Amino acid sequence: MTNFDALQSHANRLRGTRAPALLEQDPARASELALRVGPVYASFARQGYDRQALDALHALASDLDLKAAYQRLFRGEIVNPTEGRSALHTALRSNLTDAQVAQDAYAEAAGVRERMGKLVAELEASEVTDIVSVGIGGSDLGPRHVSDALRPLQPKLRVHFLSNVDGAAAQRVLAGLNPATTAAILISKTFGTQETLLNGKILADWLGGSERLYAVSANPERAAKTFDIPDARVLPMWDWVGGRYSLWSAVGFPIALAIGFDNFCALLDGAALMDQHVLETPAESNLAIRHALTALWNRNVLGHAAHGVMTYDQRLALLPNYLQQLVMESLGKSVRIDGTPVDCETVPVWWGGAGTDVQHSFFQALHQGTQIVPLDFVGTIHNDDPYAENHIALLSNLLAQSEALANGQSSDDPHRSYAGGRPSTMILLDALTPQSLGALIAMYEHSVYAQSLAWGINAFDQFGVELGKQLANGLLPALKGQAQADDPVTQALLEQIRTR
Ligand code: F6P
Repeated sequence: MTNFDALQSHANRLRGTRAPALLEQDPARASELALRVGPVYASFARQGYDRQALDALHALASDLDLKAAYQRLFRGEIVNPTEGRSALHTALRSNLTDAQVAQDAYAEAAGVRERMGKLVAELEASEVTDIVSVGIGGSDLGPRHVSDALRPLQPKLRVHFLSNVDGAAAQRVLAGLNPATTAAILISKTFGTQETLLNGKILADWLGGSERLYAVSANPERAAKTFDIPDARVLPMWDWVGGRYSLWSAVGFPIALAIGFDNFCALLDGAALMDQHVLETPAESNLAIRHALTALWNRNVLGHAAHGVMTYDQRLALLPNYLQQLVMESLGKSVRIDGTPVDCETVPVWWGGAGTDVQHSFFQALHQGTQIVPLDFVGTIHNDDPYAENHIALLSNLLAQSEALANGQSSDDPHRSYAGGRPSTMILLDALTPQSLGALIAMYEHSVYAQSLAWGINAFDQFGVELGKQLANGLLPALKGQAQADDPVTQALLEQIRTR
């Protein structure tokens, strides 16, 4: 159990101290409250803590013994006790411990990756021009976001994503595609997910058979049997990879098709660089730990109930969607691992969007609303488009927003006054490359794990999503008019649906 009380005195001491005053007291913080890991630079200088408070946060980290906790994660120990599993997503990209379980996982992942590379080469050399990736949640958001971020302008293969059970989604994705030159990958860890089974059937019917169907699953037999897919086109994953941590496995097959197999491997290299940093760097200069401690400061000490991630690179527009699952499915818990209720707040609401569009929609509330929302800004220093003037404008907006939120500006006119004191972390990638994106995502994964340890919760289960799935399945007969709903409100709504 983490006691945040010790930190409260620092919050009280710093209350009302705005960013300019913090800088006046400690001018070096502008450059020194920052960390770099390879192509990822993160400045925490606009957070509301000073070095004394940061030391107190690190005392908390040392009580938690995060170093040992990361070692347990990397070694494949059971860090997901409610499901009796390890969480070895690190073994999908790095080989940093001598633990046999992790070594075996690394070797197994490398073998599947090799098979995947061959399938990518086959598809690239075939008549196929388009791929439809069918999956949802962790079997969609990672591949979708990374493919979108890194796809070349003239890709060898166009990759499309289908997740929602809404038939309109399938209709829109398939419109304009030719079944003769399209292949589909059905991705589901369990191969029991309603959306993916229904959409998979739509694709199998539309393609006229399983000739160009591929599958990725931790239940490969079920995948092969349900859709009659030969073993050679079914890639395995394992129960030791959580869905939202799985883009590095064969779940990343669509990524490899969208950006090329070598680039997929470079994405893993970027994540491996971050893995090594996180495992081997002392807490004081460990980026994932700093990010996590900052999140705890904002959530548990200052009480902020939301967190925003604003990307200043259009190609990263789906990063917030991806992070919503990673962070909120991992940390949206109110009981500790031992089943007792937590006695502090856990995950804030994560949301976000791409700048500069967001500045013209909800940023008003961030600047002058009553609720303070700490932000992560994510920008890239070098652009890859030919529009240099636009890029300078983009960067100027990025810098300006974080400055305005932190410093504010007083005015005699209350409507034109900006309180400031709105914290943000500035994350700058040298450029958007497979390596830098891999490192960035791995940093978020490791920050999530550190936060879960502070709250004593399990970052790797997600029982909260099950009840709704069960109820939805139970309501299928009622929607077909073959049964009544148990709940009177649901029954009244069903009557509306039936009669209208
Ligand atoms: O509903 C949540 C969830 O269980 C996620 O955790 C998971 O990523 C998603 O569903 C998809 O599951 P699967 O890969 O088994 O189809």
